[in-house]
Amino acid sequence: MTKVAFIGYGFMGRVHAACWQRICGVRVAAVCVRNPASLARSVKVYGCVGEALPANLPSDVAVYTDAEKMLDEVKPDVVDVVLPTSLHAAAVERALAHGAHVLCEKPMARDAREADRILRAAARAKGRFMVAQCLRFAPEYVYLKKLVASNRYGAVAAATFTRLTPPPCAPDGKSWFQDESVSGGLALDLNIHDADIVNWNFGLPTAVSCRAHRVSSGALDHLVASYDYPDKIVVSEASWSATESFGFTYGFRVHFARATVVYDPRLAAPFMVYPARGKPFAPAFRARDPYQNEIAFFHRLATGRVRAEENPAPLAEIRASLALVDAERASARTGRRIAIQTAKGKAT
Ligand SMILES: NC(=O)c1ccc[n+]([C@@H]2O[C@H](COP(=O)([O-])OP(=O)(O)OC[C@H]3O[C@@H](n4cnc5c(N)ncnc54)[C@H](O)[C@@H]3O)[C@@H](O)[C@H]2O)c1
Repeated sequence: MTKVAFIGYGFMGRVHAACWQRICGVRVAAVCVRNPASLARSVKVYGCVGEALPANLPSDVAVYTDAEKMLDEVKPDVVDVVLPTSLHAAAVERALAHGAHVLCEKPMARDAREADRILRAAARAKGRFMVAQCLRFAPEYVYLKKLVASNRYGAVAAATFTRLTPPPCAPDGKSWFQDESVSGGLALDLNIHDADIVNWNFGLPTAVSCRAHRVSSGALDHLVASYDYPDKIVVSEASWSATESFGFTYGFRVHFARATVVYDPRLAAPFMVYPARGKPFAPAFRARDPYQNEIAFFHRLATGRVRAEENPAPLAEIRASLALVDAERASARTGRRIAIQTAKGKAT
C-alpha cells in the first residue's frame, strides 16, 4: 500500500487526490492545510478549467496544520506538494529530508535559482522527486513531440502555442496568484506550460523577446513571447485578460514542411493533422487526462516500476524551462531581447 500525504489541499490538491484515489494500492492518508475548515468547502480556481471541487477525502484521513508533525507521525511513502508556488521549495526540501518520494506541482519554483536549491536537495535524497509538468503527460502534446522528434513531416517552419484565461481570482480580485512574489505572475504561473513545451520540442532558443501588457497595478495580464531559432518562428501567447464569458482556451498550430497540425479543444475536431499529401485526419487519443497520466507515472516511479530515465519531465529540462521564463520576465521588464546563456545545454 502506498501512503500518500498532501502539503496544501486547494484546487490542484483535489485534482491530484482524485487521480491518486483511482490507483489500486494507494491510500490518501493525510493532508496538511493552513485552515482545516477549508476542507468542508468546494474550491474553484477562477479562470481555470473545471468545476468547483469538494475535498472528497476518505473518512479516516488525518488532517494537520503542521507539515513537520504530519511527516513525523504519518511517515508517508509519497508527499504531493500542492501549495502556492513560493512555498514549494521549503516543503519539497522538508518532505525529501523525511525520505519520502515527492511530487511537486508546476512551477517547480519561483525562478531557476530557487529550483537549483530543490535540485540539490533532490540529488541528496533517498526518495524520487518529480515536477508535475502536466502537458508532458497530455496525449495531444506527446503526439506533437513525437511528430517533431521523428521528422515525420519534415522540419518545423513555425509554431504558435496559446493559453488564454480570465484572471485567476475571485470576483473580489483577491488571490495569491495576483501577488507576483508568490505566484511569479502570468509569465511563470501560466506561460511556464508553453515555454516548457517550446523547450521540450525545440530545445532552448538562443534568445527570447517578450511583449507584455500590464494592468494598472503593474502586473502582467497578457504576453507574447518570441523565441529565436535560426530556422523557425516560434511564438507563445499567454493571457489573464480574457473575459469570464470567453473562458479558458489553449492549444497550438505547428507548420511542418509537409503538414499543418492544429490543436484547439474548442473545435468540433480538436486535433487535426492536415498533411501535404492525403486527407486531413484526427488521430485517436486514449488516456486523455494529463493529471491522471502524470500521477500514475509518478506512482510507478515511486514504487520502482519505471526508471528515472523514463521520466518525460527530466529535472534538468524543467529547470531549463524555468530559466527560459526568467528570461521572458526580464524581457517583459526591460523591453529588450534576452540572450539565453547555456552551459552544456543547461540554461544559466
Ligand atoms: N497544472 C495545472 O494545471 C495547475 C492549475 C492550477 C494551479 N496549479 C499550481 O498548483 C499549485 C497550487 O495551486 P492551487 O490552485 O491548488 O491553489 P489553492 O489556493 O487552491 O490551494 C493552495 C493550498 O495551499 C494551502 N496553503 C496556502 N498557504 C499556506 C501556508 N502558508 N501553509 C500551508 N498551506 C498553505 C491552502 O490552504 C490550500 O490548501 C500552484 O503552484 C499552482 O501554480 C497548477
